[in-house]
Amino acid sequence: MQLTDVEKRILAGEQGEAKQIALEILVQMGDALEAETFIEVASVQAMAHFGSLHIAGRDWLEKLACLGGKCCVPTTQDPASIPFKYWEEMGYDAEYAKNQYRLQDAILKLGEMPKWSCTPYYQGSVPRVGQNIAWAESSAVSFANSVLGARTNRTPAGLAICAALTGRMPKYGLYLPENRVAQVKITVESERLTDLDYNTIGIIMGKKVGAKIPAIYGLPTSVTNDNLKYLGASAASSGAVALYHVDGVTPEALLTDVFAGKKPEEEFVITRRDLDEEAEKMNTEGVGEAELAVVGCPHYSSEEVIKLAERIGDRKVSPGKAFWVFTTAETENLMERMGLKEKLESAGIRLMAQTCLVISPLVGNFKNLITDSGKFASYLPSEHGIKIRYAGMEACVEAVME
Ligand code: F3S
Repeated sequence: MQLTDVEKRILAGEQGEAKQIALEILVQMGDALEAETFIEVASVQAMAHFGSLHIAGRDWLEKLACLGGKCCVPTTQDPASIPFKYWEEMGYDAEYAKNQYRLQDAILKLGEMPKWSCTPYYQGSVPRVGQNIAWAESSAVSFANSVLGARTNRTPAGLAICAALTGRMPKYGLYLPENRVAQVKITVESERLTDLDYNTIGIIMGKKVGAKIPAIYGLPTSVTNDNLKYLGASAASSGAVALYHVDGVTPEALLTDVFAGKKPEEEFVITRRDLDEEAEKMNTEGVGEAELAVVGCPHYSSEEVIKLAERIGDRKVSPGKAFWVFTTAETENLMERMGLKEKLESAGIRLMAQTCLVISPLVGNFKNLITDSGKFASYLPSEHGIKIRYAGMEACVEAVME
C-alpha cells in the first residue's frame, strides 16, 4: 500500500504502540485486498459483546486499552451480551456477566461511547451521503449504505477497533463508487405492505441475491426508516446484502442511475403470494403456543415502543408468559420521561435496553417464542434451540397478553 507520511510515522510508533499495532494489521489487510491506499473514516461501529468476542476478544481489547489506545473518531458498539440493569435478577451467569463488564471497562478506556446498540443511526451517529465510515453489524451497515448513502463494508469486529484507533480503513469494496452499482432488479408487486412484509421482502431478497447489490422497485415512497431497517436487517441475515437501492427513496437511487447504464444481471418479482408463503416458512416446524414475545431486532425505535404502548391499552402479560422489548438506553430514557416505561412495566413488559437476544444467553425455560423480526426468526432457533412463530407486533401482543 502507498502510505502517507503521517501513516509512516504511525507505523514507526510515533503515536504509541496501540495505534502502531492497529495500523500494522490494517496494512496487512489492505495488502491482502490489494488496496492501494487508506481512506479516512468519519465514525466506527465496533463490537464488544462477550457472546461473540469471548476471552480472546476481551483480551485483545484489554491489551489495546492497556497500551494506551484511544479512538480518534466517534466510536459506538453493538449491544452487550447481558441486560446491565437486570442480569442478576434474571439469573444470568455471574462469570459471564463479569466478562461483559470487563469488556465495558476496556471500551471506556479506549474512548468508545457506550451506546450498546445496533441502531447507532438513531442515536446521533448519522453519517452523510458519500461519507466513509467503518461499521460492523450487518444491519447497521445495510442501513448506513442504503438508507443514508454513506460508505462502509461489513467491517469485521476485530478490525473495527483498528479503524477506531487510526481513523483509517484500506480503500476497497463499497468505498469505491464502481462497486456500488446495482446488479439485480427486484420488483415488488403488492399493495398495502405491512411492517412484517418489509422483513419478508428482505428475507426473500437475501436468499435470492446473496451478497449482490439489488435495486428494488415498487415500494411506496411513504416507506418508513423502520420499514427499511427491517428490510435490510433481514436481507443481511438470510443473505449477505450490505447495500440495496430503493427506486425513488434511497439517496443513490435519487441521485444516480443505480445500474450505471448497464442491464441488470438478473431480475425477479415478489408478489403477495411470495410474501405470504415465505412468512409461513419462517415459522419453525412444530412451534407451539408462544411463552415469550421478543421484539426489537434491530433495536425498537422510540416510535415503535410508543406504537406498542398504544396497542396494549390496559392489557397485562399473561401469567407464566413474558414480553421483552430490545431497545436503546436513549429510547428507554425517553419512554421514562413520557410515562410509558412505567405503563409497559406495570403491564409486565420488560424494556431490555442495550442488549440483544441473539448474542446473549436465553434465561428462563422458554421453548416457543413469537417475534416480529425476520432477523430474530432467522437466528434464534439455531442460537438457542427454540421454536419461533413469525408474526407482526399485533400478533405478539395477542399471543402473550391477557
Ligand atoms: Fe441488533 Fe441483535 Fe438484531 S444486534 S440487529 S438486536 S441480532
